[in-house]
Amino acid sequence: MVATPRGVLGRVLGWWRAAGVQIRSTIAATVLQAVVVAAAGAVLLLALSNNLDNSIDAGNLATAQGVSALVDGDIASSTAVATTDSPNREDLRDAISAASRRRAVVQVLNADGTVIAASDDLRGFTALARELPAAGGTRTLERALPFDDDPYRFTALGGAVDSTRFTVLIGQSLGTGEDTLHAAEVALTVAGPLLLLAVAGATYLFIGRSLRPVSEIRTTVEGISLRDLSERVPVPPGDDEVSQLARTMNAMLADLDRATTAQRQFVSDASHELRSPVATLRAAADIALTVPDRADRGDLAVLVRGEAQRLDRLVADLLLLARVDERSRGSAGTPQRDEVDLDDLVTAEARRLRTATTLDVAVHREPARVLGDGHALSRVLRNLTDNAARHAVSKVSIALHRNGSTAVLDVVNDGPPIPGQDRERVFDRFVRLEESRARDLGGTGLGLAIVREIVLAHGGNVRVLDPDDGPGTCFRIELPISEFPDSPELTD
Ligand SMILES: Nc1ncnc2c1ncn2[C@@H]1O[C@H](COP(=O)(O)OP(=O)(O)OP(=O)(O)O)[C@@H](O)[C@H]1O
Ligand SMILES: [Mg+2]
Repeated sequence: MVATPRGVLGRVLGWWRAAGVQIRSTIAATVLQAVVVAAAGAVLLLALSNNLDNSIDAGNLATAQGVSALVDGDIASSTAVATTDSPNREDLRDAISAASRRRAVVQVLNADGTVIAASDDLRGFTALARELPAAGGTRTLERALPFDDDPYRFTALGGAVDSTRFTVLIGQSLGTGEDTLHAAEVALTVAGPLLLLAVAGATYLFIGRSLRPVSEIRTTVEGISLRDLSERVPVPPGDDEVSQLARTMNAMLADLDRATTAQRQFVSDASHELRSPVATLRAAADIALTVPDRADRGDLAVLVRGEAQRLDRLVADLLLLARVDERSRGSAGTPQRDEVDLDDLVTAEARRLRTATTLDVAVHREPARVLGDGHALSRVLRNLTDNAARHAVSKVSIALHRNGSTAVLDVVNDGPPIPGQDRERVFDRFVRLEESRARDLGGTGLGLAIVREIVLAHGGNVRVLDPDDGPGTCFRIELPISEFPDSPELTD
């Protein structure tokens, strides 16, 4: 099969992606460095070559000006050096010899372009320049000369004596400059790859070292299973991105650990609670089957109904908590948001309590409307008043106040207070205090957990306080008010 350019590109891309950060970073850094070194080298060589040309041109011009000053009318208008007899002749020869000693070659041309003076090297040469500059003007040109391997760079300076034009040509070999350029090229070709090698090695080692903690984190995480979330990833010293990642990872593991432990605890508590009514039901059924004479049908029916009710409530509570949990994880949409009049809920609950108990029920309510789920909020009030009634000696009071934009709901009873150290704990799932267990007040310890979840979902908070007047227990709920209906305060 013939590889298409697309196929090759795809394979290269695939290799690049699979190569890993260390290799990819090393290649990228080396290629970038190669481009920079090549560009810098080219600029350096160009600048060096320009500089050499400029310094040759400057030397040539100075010499040409010196020679030009010695050309007089006779020389300029002559056609050959040998036939001219001028008092300046000696000076001109000396100047040309001096230039020769500085390794320059010289030609002086008359207006027609005929050689009228020359250094020894160029004796017998015809004019090296064809286009001559105007008087005072200059031109530069390069010519190969038979006696030197390297080309010569010339400056032609135009001159005139009494309107007779002449041209002085001074040239110097480019050999020395070329040698310098060549040396620089060699240095760059040797030093460039060495530099690249050093950059590649350093990048590879540095990235490798930086990535080592990441691979340690990965190995640790690979070994952590949902069964045991107690392990933590190693945190490298410092406060760079990798150590921040490790710390975030550890915080996430701790959260997961807490959540799975809580979930396991919840499942085991729930099964435990479910077992006791189920066991009672089984025992009742066994008695009815094995000793039918001893079993009173009426008593059995009452027992079975009581346990079934307990089971029903328990399952309903568990379902409610599961739904609240799902919602707080954002997987069950937002809670319902209706306008709920808390004062109406208080009125209904007080009425229920007065009908169902013999307790003295006091109510104080101010109008307060909140946004939320009316059914869930009445469940909150029901759980609090049920608890209050269960623990009260003779009195329960429900008070709804407004405090700025907050609705404050107090449910107070005159029973034994909840000890300080238990005031947070009572909101945990399946927590029942010793006193409730001892008095066998029923209940499963889910009521307050449900209260807390619902109140939190409504943006509020709940806590246990000492009542303002006398001993007892006060549960205070604070919820944000949505608006203030314009109706009177009611107390009864
Ligand atoms: N008003 C109160 N006075 C004294 N103790 C209380 C009061 N309310 C709750 N508690 C204590 O807090 C515990 C937890 O209350 P919670 O409402 O969560 O559970 P429960 O009433 O025992 O059972 P459930 O409400 O699920 O039927 C109770 O068992 C009780 O010990
Ligand atoms: Mg309760």
